[in-house]
Amino acid sequence: MLRATLLKLSESGIARRVATRAPLASTFAHRFVAGDTVDDAVAATRALNRAGMSVTLDYLGESVSSREEARAAADTYLAVLDHIAAEGLDANVSLKLTAMGQDIDEEFLRENVGRVIERAAAHDILVRFDMEGSDYTQPTLDFFRRLWNEGVRNIGPVIQSYLYRSSDDIAWLNSIGARVRLCKGAYQEPATVAFPEKSEVDAAFVRLAKALLDDGNYPGIATHDLAMINATIEHVKRRGYSADRFEFQMLYGVRRDFQSSLVEQGMRLRVYVPFGEAWYPYLMRRMAERPANLFFIAGSVLKEALPGR
Ligand code: FDA
Repeated sequence: MLRATLLKLSESGIARRVATRAPLASTFAHRFVAGDTVDDAVAATRALNRAGMSVTLDYLGESVSSREEARAAADTYLAVLDHIAAEGLDANVSLKLTAMGQDIDEEFLRENVGRVIERAAAHDILVRFDMEGSDYTQPTLDFFRRLWNEGVRNIGPVIQSYLYRSSDDIAWLNSIGARVRLCKGAYQEPATVAFPEKSEVDAAFVRLAKALLDDGNYPGIATHDLAMINATIEHVKRRGYSADRFEFQMLYGVRRDFQSSLVEQGMRLRVYVPFGEAWYPYLMRRMAERPANLFFIAGSVLKEALPGR
């Protein structure tokens, strides 16, 4: 119920405008968002690299309806890619196609994303396409397929274990050698397309992770769930796979204890680092995943409101 309400709020334009203008709000966002600027993102990347973690940088934004905004988002990615290359950072980028013009028109999207992919390819960097709500699953995979058929190889999609269709999608992606990120899925979906029960989503995650580990190309196992992490490690050990066959992925600011512990155990870990001013829907999805984050935020409000206590 609370999850559904928070996910509904994540899509509300009015709530976004109110929250984003609230003077304290951006302070709270910084628990999960590296900052507003490319420099903030690069600084966070340097620190994570020093701690032995790889990074994927995400310039926040989604559901963009103007070409100018979509072009500006792509330009920010170009700047990010140049910084990564110039500093030799261990990082790639993740983007949402709806921030690049997916709702505008496909040729515009191709041209805009094309600029990012070309620059990334010149620096030998992967561009990950985040997966959004289920209305976008087929268009996103179709767009991925189109680029793949054109010979583009520095791209990778995301598959969500809550969708019934995902095992077919993974079979296809494994057959072509695509690099997949597997996550549970963060959107509110009807039972016609997604497992309603968490136990089913978890069971599917383990099944799909095994399929990716056995037949995939350097999958990203994106989760903070210890049961999923342990099932992955057990499978890897049972099959005798080396630790460089895959990477774990986690979100910036979430389960930092697990993040350090996996690195200490010799596992590869990539941290997803969002930055930019359009943090509202991203933050609301993080609240929906763990309503206790609301208490974390409430605690921050109190700390700021009652200095010295
Ligand atoms: P689950 O939700 O079961 O949580 C397990 C435990 O992890 C919780 O009990 C809690 O301890 C901790 N935890 C989880 N989320 C937390 C949070 N927000 N704050 C604090 N603790 C938390 N989704 C999507 O639809 N499309 C995408 O492209 C991506 N991309 C993506 C990249 C990466 C690197 C990650 C890690 C995740 C995504 N996601 C995503 C989000 C994903 O689908 C999912 O919503 C979250 O990862 C939460 O699921 P868990 O697997 O962590 O398990």
